[in-house]
Amino acid sequence: MKHLPLIVIMGFMGAGKSTFARALARRLDCQMLDLDEIIAEQEKRSVPELIEREGEEQFRRAETLALQIVLERKTARIIALGGGAWTLERNRALIAKHECYTVWLDAPFELCWKRIASEQQLRPLAIDRKTTHALYDERRQCYKLAMLHVPVTENSSADELAFVIVKSLRQRFAKR
Ligand code: S3P
Repeated sequence: MKHLPLIVIMGFMGAGKSTFARALARRLDCQMLDLDEIIAEQEKRSVPELIEREGEEQFRRAETLALQIVLERKTARIIALGGGAWTLERNRALIAKHECYTVWLDAPFELCWKRIASEQQLRPLAIDRKTTHALYDERRQCYKLAMLHVPVTENSSADELAFVIVKSLRQRFAKR
């Protein structure tokens, strides 16, 4: 695919965005990046530490800056966002400006929560089950704005999902 755009992967915490982005990058033989990792490099501290020490607003500022840089430099073809990035209008505007193809990994809340509760990764914005569920419901309205909706179940493997997405990308972009 010669004219493949930048691909932005979004979805709630625990949806499997980074794993899926890595599988997609293997299938498309291109580079991927995880925006939270770029923020951590840029701010010289981990994302949970940044949120806890400086607050969510400061983290969001760093997130938008990192997004702007990776989109402008085209550092990688595939970008896995953190769960909240797409919910900000200014970030959606940046992504639209760069004509990215946006993919929503839609995992059920129970699956996300199971991963959030069991993974080592710290997520300061997933405080408890009830507030996290409310956040999940609220964010779905934004995630629905993505160009491609990919339902995920507990049994879907990242590689299988990547296969399906590559097929859809081929249909959409091959002849351009
Ligand atoms: C956040 C999700 C996290 C990270 C930060 C905020 C969110 O990324 O960006 O803790 O607001 O949903 P993951 O979705 O990769 O966990």
